[in-house]
Amino acid sequence: MTAMQLTKEEERMLKGEEGYAARKSMEILAALGDIYGADQLIKVGSVQVAGVSYHNLGDAGLEFLNDLARDGKVKVLTTLNPAGMDLENWRQLGISEDFAAKQNLVIDAFRRMGIIISCTCTPYLIGNLPHYGEHIAWSESSAVTFANSVIGARTNREGGPSALAAAFVGKTPRYGLHLDEKRFPNIHVQVKTTLTKLSDWGALGYAIGKKAENKIPYITGIREAELDELKTFCASVVTYGAQPLFYMHGITPGAENCAVPRDSVTIEVRDLKEAYDNINDEVTDIELVCVGCPHCSIKEIAQIAELLEGKKVAETTEFWVATSRVAKQIADTRGYTETIERAGGKFACDTCMAVAPLKGRFKSLATTSAKGCFYSRQNGMATKMGSLQECVEAAVTGKWS
Ligand code: F3S
Repeated sequence: MTAMQLTKEEERMLKGEEGYAARKSMEILAALGDIYGADQLIKVGSVQVAGVSYHNLGDAGLEFLNDLARDGKVKVLTTLNPAGMDLENWRQLGISEDFAAKQNLVIDAFRRMGIIISCTCTPYLIGNLPHYGEHIAWSESSAVTFANSVIGARTNREGGPSALAAAFVGKTPRYGLHLDEKRFPNIHVQVKTTLTKLSDWGALGYAIGKKAENKIPYITGIREAELDELKTFCASVVTYGAQPLFYMHGITPGAENCAVPRDSVTIEVRDLKEAYDNINDEVTDIELVCVGCPHCSIKEIAQIAELLEGKKVAETTEFWVATSRVAKQIADTRGYTETIERAGGKFACDTCMAVAPLKGRFKSLATTSAKGCFYSRQNGMATKMGSLQECVEAAVTGKWS
């Protein structure tokens, strides 16, 4: 049935002796293992499941999940990617009753499986934090890149079904980025420009993603990086490039042990400018400002509150802060929520601009995120990318200046 070496327990699961969800999961893992030449399954420390928004799943996806939820129970720590709405304040974000009802059925299926309803793309900020070298099975691309590159954990970019399968079996096929030999960098990227604002990291991700193509970048020339900058970079480099893994000399673990690849490219100030030119559209009136792609950390929420203090969001514009419910709960205790909401801002917990059903609602968007621009364009919006200050300014004036 599979070329992989299976344990007795795995064979029992594959034969259906451990129930429907385990059998389905083993079928998925065996098929993947055979396609990619894996020799065996390996244990994973945690799973992160994408494919949560009803907007993307539809009724067929909901049915698939309900079938698995009949007898499926996750065997390892498993968290969820953002859903299509704020699970509590969906009305405030303009989500329809019909959509909310379906989205809640999706969430209910995940809950029955034993999955933590975290609904965030920054699981590493809310307690799903792997250690260096740990094998995991995550599916959100920005989180996968962060886990591989910033933490030094090991994961392929799983699809929703293969991540779920890994959660039910507690294992994933040993191939790709789980193997030492597939993790060597093979292009040297010399950064010869300075980065002065958060969105520059998105522009850098765009520029490196395009130049590195399908190679694993070994990046030099960056002296310091904050966590929020790295998460922004991770989201961008994998959106505009191909590999969910990079090494940043002096910053990410393992980089100092790598041989510097001979193949080399440089990133100069003109490359960042080109990135901004490609990401930014010709638009002045901004209908939606959304920050938090990947989901805002508490530090970013504090910065937003400070920038919004005493201001008012324009009547023509909505201002969304996309974040995890956990970060929002901390923001509540610090008074940040009150400041942001008093100014007319809205929290979009559990969701984001890419997976909420926004098509047709807004014509233009401003954000700090290169990835956010990529997906918002697919939702028919003209996009502007800039600093947190520029985004708050756009929210208050309704204009991009
Ligand atoms: Fe997260 Fe959505 Fe951006 S899932 S990385 S906020 S597109």
